Amino acid sequence: VKQKATNVTWHEGDITAEHRAKLLGHKGATLWFTGLSGSGKSTVAVELEGRLHEMGILSYRLDGDNVRLGINKNLGFSAEDRTENIRRVGEVAKLFADTGVIALSSFISPYTADRDQVRALHDAAGMDFIEVFVDCSLAAAEERDPKGLYKKARAGEIKNFTGIDDPYEAPSNPEVHLHSDRQTLDEEVEEILTVLRKRGIIP
Ligand code: PPS
Repeated sequence: VKQKATNVTWHEGDITAEHRAKLLGHKGATLWFTGLSGSGKSTVAVELEGRLHEMGILSYRLDGDNVRLGINKNLGFSAEDRTENIRRVGEVAKLFADTGVIALSSFISPYTADRDQVRALHDAAGMDFIEVFVDCSLAAAEERDPKGLYKKARAGEIKNFTGIDDPYEAPSNPEVHLHSDRQTLDEEVEEILTVLRKRGIIP
């Protein structure tokens, strides 16, 4: 994306992320769920959101379908648009994390370079970024086909569908590696909570 604005400088305020963390009782972070369509990214995020809520921890879900109905409604599924989709939601997740919220971002995010870009954005700001690979075989995702999209993609009614005629680059070193085709939802959530505790993000 071309840089359009010039003569723009960052304006620092008095209240920092540390102040906000003190107010909330926990610090923010971005959890980045990545995986094929139908792998269960949103399902895990919804379950985790419920568990965190019970624990008094504020989280907020950012979801592919939802975001694409709003802030990113001008984007499609070309490689270029997917990259811009991830760039924008990466910035939005960082804003949430900076407020002290645990951002639960579920996007296919098929390109390693795009995910690494979001990671770098968080690293540069000293913020936690946790990549959660929701690993699921294409066969299992296609078998589930919750929205009937694989069927349409196989029939050629949807072009550039991830896993069918568009690439998915699996993460090589994610902080959490789930196997949604053989783990229970509870096991998956526990695995994430363990990592969050280990990193001191939640008590
Ligand atoms: S991406 O690649 O990260 O920009 O995609 P994302 O924003 O997560 O959006 C994925 C959801 O869009 C629907 N959909 C498609 N997915 C993949 N490829 C194509 N061509 C496509 N067209 C529509 C689909 O419902 C995805 O939802 P999930 O929740 O991942 O199944």
